[in-house]
Amino acid sequence: MDLAGRHVVITGASSGIGAELAERCAMGGATVGICARRRDRLEAVLARCQAHTPDSCMFVCDLSDFAQVDDLARRALDAFGHIDMLVNNAGMPKRKHVTALDYDTVEHVARLNYLSPVRLTLAILPGMVARGSGLIVNVSSVAATLSSPGEAAYDASKAALSVFSEAMAIDLWETGVRVLVVYPGVVDTELFTIPDNDPLSMDIERIPVSELVDGVMDAISRDALEVYVPDWFKGIASGKASDLEGFLAGSAAWVRQQAGG
Ligand SMILES: NC(=O)c1ccc[n+]([C@@H]2O[C@H](COP(=O)([O-])OP(=O)(O)OC[C@H]3O[C@@H](n4cnc5c(N)ncnc54)[C@H](OP(=O)(O)O)[C@@H]3O)[C@@H](O)[C@H]2O)c1
Repeated sequence: MDLAGRHVVITGASSGIGAELAERCAMGGATVGICARRRDRLEAVLARCQAHTPDSCMFVCDLSDFAQVDDLARRALDAFGHIDMLVNNAGMPKRKHVTALDYDTVEHVARLNYLSPVRLTLAILPGMVARGSGLIVNVSSVAATLSSPGEAAYDASKAALSVFSEAMAIDLWETGVRVLVVYPGVVDTELFTIPDNDPLSMDIERIPVSELVDGVMDAISRDALEVYVPDWFKGIASGKASDLEGFLAGSAAWVRQQAGG
């Protein structure tokens, strides 16, 4: 999709990947509607976007509350008339061993990372289908395909989002509405400073946000269905699919090694 003149809604745009993506979309000529909970941080991002597209706007909302998700869809459609691209990027981590997880935590993670993007998508989609054009970008994670140890609640929420996206892409194949699933590796953002999470167990280099956003912008321009950034993660996902037992045993051995065992 060429972003010039488009209307783009990006969730979770007060920091990290969403903030930089919003600015890059605005630089490309898109009017952006950005949302998150932290008003002050959104205002700073909005100012940078409005330097390129003055009609860009912001919506403060908590996307773990479904009434606020519905309200966001209404406010964005009121502001823009129609939406060309929706980026479901808002999300929360949950690095917690399965034996320390409680059900309410799993449900909360699923609500924000899976159900909320689905709800927003279903509210925006009819307009796209009626217009015969649109792009839904869902920010998943390599955790969805690699089943990262110590992150079962997070992994499952992202896997659900990925599979929903793929099935949706098939359903929409002939409609002119496209779907892109983004698989970030480990990106240097505030995601690793959020409380009530175990320390990151993986000794993997964090890529800068700009590298991830470069990959997403390129995938958008190519109408790609999925993008892994860095792309070598895709090879690991293929390896897991071809030898699940070997992959899980290797992961368990790696966790032991990281713990010094
Ligand atoms: N960083 C990584 O290594 C990595 C890897 C794979 C996937 N991802 C995914 O990338 C996406 C962006 O994360 P990030 O790394 O850029 O981290 P981040 O800087 O913490 O960004 C998360 C964004 O989501 C928003 N958000 C969180 N809870 C929200 C809520 N209840 N309602 C509305 N907005 C909410 C945050 O804004 P407020 O706090 O202002 O609400 C923030 O703008 C997430 O979906 C994450 O799972 C990240």
